[in-house]
Amino acid sequence: MLAENVDLRRLDTLIEINTLINSDYSDPNALLTRIVESATRLTEGEASSLLLINPDDNKLYFEVALGSKGPEVQRFSLNPGEGIAGWVVEKNRSLIVNDVETDQRFFSNISKAVGFSTRNILAAPMRIRDKCVGVLEILNKKERKDFTESDLWWLEIFANQAALAIQNARSFQKAREQIDLLSVQVTESKGYHTLVAMSPAMLEKIDLVKRVAPTDSSVLILGESGVGKELFAEQLHLNSRRADRAFVRVNCAALPESLLESELFGHVKGAFTDANRDRIGRFELADGGTIFLDEIGELPLSLQAKLLRVLQERTFEKVGASEPISVDVRIVAATNRDIEEEVSEGRFRRDLYYRLNVLPLYVPPLRSRPEDIPELAQFFLKRLNHETKKQIRGFSDEAMEQLLSYSWPGNVRELENAVERAVVISRGDEISPDDLVLQRGQSDGARYEGNSLKDAVNMFKKQYLRATLGRCEWNQTVAARQLGIQRTYLSRLIKELDISRSE
Ligand SMILES: Nc1ncnc2c1ncn2[C@@H]1O[C@H](COP(=O)(O)OP(=O)(O)OP(=O)(O)O)[C@@H](O)[C@H]1O
Ligand SMILES: [Mg+2]
Repeated sequence: MLAENVDLRRLDTLIEINTLINSDYSDPNALLTRIVESATRLTEGEASSLLLINPDDNKLYFEVALGSKGPEVQRFSLNPGEGIAGWVVEKNRSLIVNDVETDQRFFSNISKAVGFSTRNILAAPMRIRDKCVGVLEILNKKERKDFTESDLWWLEIFANQAALAIQNARSFQKAREQIDLLSVQVTESKGYHTLVAMSPAMLEKIDLVKRVAPTDSSVLILGESGVGKELFAEQLHLNSRRADRAFVRVNCAALPESLLESELFGHVKGAFTDANRDRIGRFELADGGTIFLDEIGELPLSLQAKLLRVLQERTFEKVGASEPISVDVRIVAATNRDIEEEVSEGRFRRDLYYRLNVLPLYVPPLRSRPEDIPELAQFFLKRLNHETKKQIRGFSDEAMEQLLSYSWPGNVRELENAVERAVVISRGDEISPDDLVLQRGQSDGARYEGNSLKDAVNMFKKQYLRATLGRCEWNQTVAARQLGIQRTYLSRLIKELDISRSE
């Protein structure tokens, strides 16, 4: 009669666990702990553990360890074949050992190290599709009793439940990763970028973006070149009610004044010599969505006036037209210039600045948020592996140290380029410091030492032009403007100094 009651209790527990397994995938460790607790209680053990095989090294790790020494035990791991758990994995069979002292398979190191005296052990394999993925162990039956065949039978059932829980959790995790990947792919296929962020500074900015995005206020994004201003502009759009509508990018530095005006606002046929038909401007294209005015600091004063009117009245005229057009557009602008200085020097309208700057968003330079460096480096590596069909696992410790200690004047763009170069150069399965070419610690003097003045000047020109072109994504018009020289002169220098994009 007593035995029957015990079994009924076991059955109840089993049913309860079954329900949990089928409902909750979110916290696998909590679920496994419940299973181990129940198994321990019902087999009357003093302590217990659940070990999982790590497929990378085939070692057994303690996923759950209960009993007086549980927390200490969790620091240990077992090599393949080691101890009773190792035997269970190897043979894929369960086992009762009622006197461990006389059993060769018993591995006493852990018990000794934590000061737990193990007397007897009950162990069962956890199987997913017949393959052993771990072991469930119960130690020391209470009141110094021996474990029985019936205890083992129940333990096997619990081990199966645990395996099921693990299988569910893994499929769930995999599905979630696939969904994440899919959503990344969908956004990327629409021309948006993935914004990687790990540092508290960036997470705070993302939080700000999420709060600001739903409003229609203009946002001015500030920050050094290459910090990711464009990605923040995308996030403002993607987190707004306008996400399904157009996100229209305009680089205000890329076009001369006359073309930029018709680019932004459109023109009517005959507005100027080449205007042989009507043209829709970017503002109209962005109707219902967001317009991103990049390098707003470069916007000529005449167009600043026109933009101010759009901000105030949401209307404008096409070039050569007189009737106003109304649009519903959210304006996001960005600049890497010191815009306040531009304002005080009279190059940027103060009233426009105030209008745009309703919600300023400053993206900090990479050197002030080193926590993002490993994350970004891995992200770029993964993408480049995919593109180049290489399989570089990661960065050596020394390489990562270099990445972390470098000052990144070109910010994330420079990091992206450095990783790309390293992936191309690397021959190993890991990026080493030799693969990274960072402009560190070299003083200007040292770089030019031993050269004639003419050669040194040319070296400098070459390096400076290449850097500027890189920053402008090899748009020569933009670069020439930044350098304060004619475009034709720039292209002649490029030829003379033999500057190429691939270097
Ligand atoms: N947090 C990030 N996660 C992933 N990629 C990033 C991140 N920040 C920047 N990048 C990448 O770095 C490069 C530069 O970013 P972006 O073009 O947004 O810089 P920017 O601030 O607009 O610079 P500039 O002022 O020179 O235009 C891009 O290729 C972008 O995809
Ligand atoms: Mg940019």
